Amino acid sequence: MDITQAIETRRSIRSYTEEPVTKAELEKLVDLAIKAPTGSGMEPWGFVVLQDRQEIDELSERIKKKVLDHLEEYPQFAQYESWLRNEHYHIFNKAGTVLVIYGDEHSPWHVYDCSLVAGNIMLAAQNDGIGCCWIGFAEALFNDEDFKAAHHVPGNFHLVATLSMGHTKVPVPPCTRKAPVFFSWK
Ligand SMILES: Cc1cc2nc3c(=O)[nH]c(=O)nc-3n(C[C@H](O)[C@H](O)[C@H](O)COP(=O)(O)O)c2cc1C
Repeated sequence: MDITQAIETRRSIRSYTEEPVTKAELEKLVDLAIKAPTGSGMEPWGFVVLQDRQEIDELSERIKKKVLDHLEEYPQFAQYESWLRNEHYHIFNKAGTVLVIYGDEHSPWHVYDCSLVAGNIMLAAQNDGIGCCWIGFAEALFNDEDFKAAHHVPGNFHLVATLSMGHTKVPVPPCTRKAPVFFSWK
């Protein structure tokens, strides 16, 4: 698959086969992803990999509860209240792998750099039949001190991106987008 095809066909994938994403597969994707440009050459990224079924399921429940209990603190999630109240809704779509990308706040560019890494992972994964979905809901928990401490994330690292990942079960047709707006083109 060439890069154009990967970009054209990538979609957010929310349905996965039982086949696990292996350590080798994930290491290959991360090694490729960190070829991303990096402000001031600081490479301010760090990763947490979650692959324990029970832990991922528990985290999904904790995130749903925390957001619903403090909905006023999460105006960005208000439109999804009915999803969160659905007992069958799983924040990570039952993915077997969740990759959490943290950025070092010592770099003023860490959010950009880590977002580029996340984008690279999603495109490279597409080439391997591995589907990803960025999970914004995870922001409710993965920046918490107790979660970070439990996963050895240093205090100066801040959550940037969470990707649920798994071998794609149901491919999604290529996306359509609104026409781009050019504010000026002289
Ligand atoms: C910052 C960000 C946060 C997102 N959060 C979620 C999420 O919590 N749950 C989810 O199912 N999809 C989430 N998505 C995926 C978007 O819904 C998806 O990218 C969008 O609908 C466009 O679809 P596509 O990725 O298939 O082209 C998120 C995407 C981004 C970039």
